[in-house]
Amino acid sequence: MRVKYLGRKGELTNVLRSLKNLSLAERKKTGLEANALKKALENLFDEKIKKLQTRNYKLETRKLDITHPGTKIHRGHFHPLTKVEENVRRIFASMNFSVVDGPEVETEHYNFDALNIPANHPARDMWDTFWLRQNEVKSQKSKVKSSDRLLMRTHTSPVQIRYMESHNPPFQIIVPGRVFRYEAIDAGHEINFHQLEGLMVGPNINLSNFKFVVEEFFKKFFSAKGGSALGGKGEKVQFRYRPSYFPFVEPGLEVDIKFKNKSLEVMGAGMVHRKVFEAVRYNPNTMRGFAFGMGLDRLAMIKYSIPDIRLFYSGDLRFIKQF
Ligand code: FA5
Repeated sequence: MRVKYLGRKGELTNVLRSLKNLSLAERKKTGLEANALKKALENLFDEKIKKLQTRNYKLETRKLDITHPGTKIHRGHFHPLTKVEENVRRIFASMNFSVVDGPEVETEHYNFDALNIPANHPARDMWDTFWLRQNEVKSQKSKVKSSDRLLMRTHTSPVQIRYMESHNPPFQIIVPGRVFRYEAIDAGHEINFHQLEGLMVGPNINLSNFKFVVEEFFKKFFSAKGGSALGGKGEKVQFRYRPSYFPFVEPGLEVDIKFKNKSLEVMGAGMVHRKVFEAVRYNPNTMRGFAFGMGLDRLAMIKYSIPDIRLFYSGDLRFIKQF
C-alpha cells in the first residue's frame, strides 16, 4: 500500500509531481490537500508497522494448525535397579512379607558383633569395610567404645537384629537397601550395591520353608512381564544350593543361578544362629528362623542380560534409556 501511494512512482507522488502543471490557484489548493494527505498516510503506515511488530498482535493472529505434528514429550522412567526392587517387593508382599528399612550408617555392634562376628574374628575379612571418622567424639577425650564405632553397612543383615529387638515372632520381613564394601571393582562387583535381606521367624520354621519361599520367588520373578534372559514363561529356572559359611546362620548355604552357562552367585542364606537369637533375647530353644541376603544388582543383571554391574552406576544415558 505504501509503495502504491507513496513510492517513487506512487499515485500520490505523481499528484505532487504534477502540481507544477497546474494554475497557481489550483496548485495552492491541491498542493495543500495533497501534502496533508501525504502526512496523514505516513502516520497511518507508521502506526500500522508498530502494531504489526508487537508480540501480542503476532500471537492473536497466529493460526492453529491442528495437523502439524506435535513436539514429543520426553517422559522419565525408572532405573532398571528400581524396577527390579519394585518387582521383588511386590512378589514378597504377595507372600505376606512386610517391608522394613534400616540405616545405611551402622554401628559395629549391629553390623558385626550382634551377628556373631566378634572383633578379630577372621570372618570379618569377608566384609571389607568403610569405617567412618569420628573426630567429634575423639575431641571429647572419651574413647569410642569399639561396638559403637560407625561404618557404612556392609550388608542388610544388621536390620535383622534391629527388627528382632523390637518385635516378637512370628513374622516374615524383607529389607531392601544399599550396602557398601571396600573392595576391588570388576564386572560382577561394585563398592556400592543393593541387597535384599529376608527373615522369617516362628516356632516351626525350617529349611524346607526357605526352599519353598525362594523357589516360589524365583519362579515369579523370572516369569514376570518383560521376560528375562533365562527364557520366557514356563522355562525352568536353574539354581543350585551349595553349603557355605556365615557366622550368623547354621547351617549356611549359598544359592547360584545358571546364566549363559555360567553360574552367578545370587544369595547367602541359612537357619538363624542361636547366638543371634540370644543377642536379641529370643529363646533359641523354642524359636527357629531362616534368613537370606541376595544381591539385587545380580538379579537385575540376569533378568535383563546385563554383562557388567558397573553399567548401573555409570550414569550413561545410552544404557539407562533402554529400560
Ligand atoms: C552377605 O552379605 C550376607 N549378609 C548374606 C546372608 C544373609 C547370609 C542372611 C545368610 C543369612 P554375601 O557377602 O555373600 O553375604 O553377599 C550376598 C550377595 O550379595 C551375594 O550373593 C551377591 O549376590 C551380592 N554381592 C556381594 N558382594 C557384591 C558386590 N561387591 N557387588 C555386587 N553384589 C555383591
